[in-house]
Amino acid sequence: MHSFIRAGLLLFPLLPSLTSALPAASIGAYGKYGKPATSGNCTLPPYYTLEEHWLSPSLFQQFLANPLNALIGGGGSPGGGTLPKLREIGAQRLASMDANNIQIQVISHLAAAIAASPAPARFRGFCILPMAAPGAAAAELRRCVAAHGFVGALVDAHLANASYYDGAAYDSLWAAAVGLGVPIYLHPTYPSLADVVDAGTGLYAPSVAGEWSAGQAAALGTVAWGWHERTGFGFLRMYLGGVFERFPELQVILGHMGELVPYYLWRSDLFLSPGLSRTLDQVYAGNAYVTTSGIFSLDPVATLVRNTNRTRILYSVDYPFASNEDGAAFMASLRSSGLVSQAEFSQVAYQNAAQLLKIKTT
Ligand SMILES: *[C@@H]1O[C@H](CO)[C@@H](O)[C@H](O)[C@H]1NC(C)=O
Ligand SMILES: *[C@@H]1O[C@H](CO)[C@@H](O)[C@H](O)[C@H]1NC(C)=O
Ligand SMILES: *[C@@H]1O[C@H](CO)[C@@H](O)[C@H](O)[C@H]1NC(C)=O
Repeated sequence: MHSFIRAGLLLFPLLPSLTSALPAASIGAYGKYGKPATSGNCTLPPYYTLEEHWLSPSLFQQFLANPLNALIGGGGSPGGGTLPKLREIGAQRLASMDANNIQIQVISHLAAAIAASPAPARFRGFCILPMAAPGAAAAELRRCVAAHGFVGALVDAHLANASYYDGAAYDSLWAAAVGLGVPIYLHPTYPSLADVVDAGTGLYAPSVAGEWSAGQAAALGTVAWGWHERTGFGFLRMYLGGVFERFPELQVILGHMGELVPYYLWRSDLFLSPGLSRTLDQVYAGNAYVTTSGIFSLDPVATLVRNTNRTRILYSVDYPFASNEDGAAFMASLRSSGLVSQAEFSQVAYQNAAQLLKIKTT
């Protein structure tokens, strides 16, 4: 642990100047959520991570069969060794968790795999839901929370035919989540293959065949931009569809530093809020949580600490698509950055997750 802290201090000597360079807006130099509170110098708190992947045999086959995954592999991530890690929930995963201070991973999605792991107490589960059939999704959420003690659901942000969840058909699912007191994690998912490979017409494909590679087009449509933008878009559609008016207690988790929503909040709020009884700003403050999954940069955190309640910012890695080592180095840099107090660092590290997911800390 201490080597990460040292590494963080060495890697981020520029941070005091970054924080002091933040412009003083009308809401104050530190943003609407104020200056970090000063607090004691505690030892490194444990980390809980929420967007961590493991695939059952059938989903693993689907993953392998998806041509976009092969293309993304060609365009950058996932790196070597990722595939076996997606299937493993034993010694290798636990050793990586131990080495990187992760006490609990919330994985998606199989209770039997958690039970069979050498350390079931180190894992929690998010349900996987049949989102194309909202009534069945609600029933499955109820079943797996009741039968397996799962702590919420992690779902694709839209269906394969690019339809979203703003309509009343999904009210039964939101009602189930609110009734059970569990959050729904909106996770990025694939664009259509045509959008990636059809040069000239595909949203992410080049205008001229060969101008950029299919791997680059796949990255543009997924990991580098597209699926993040579409996930934040899914949240905005739920807002406009009145989901949070009908279910004011519904809690949604957005990974990857908020799937662009925090950076557009001021402008999206300005143009989308008229006509609804709660502004987008209010819904973001009361119904959204944001995790750091897969983005290990302090620049977006600088935005988050200004416009997002620190009780709603949670550490996550995105293992094995991102590495626990890179996550630990990021957390060390966050801890010494001055962007959060030590007490707030502990909230981000595990306390906010423990509260949201009702995990008893010992
Ligand atoms: C915590 O305390 C140690 C030892 O007193 C000191 O070296 C370190 O700089 C302190 N860290 C912070 C973040 O205050
Ligand atoms: C998308 O799929 C869902 C689930 O099968 C279906 O209910 C919906 O009508 C489809 N939407 C479009 C635009 O085809
Ligand atoms: C942040 O969230 C906490 C916990 O819900 C709440 O008590 C506090 O008032 C919020 N802070 C602001 C500035 O809204």
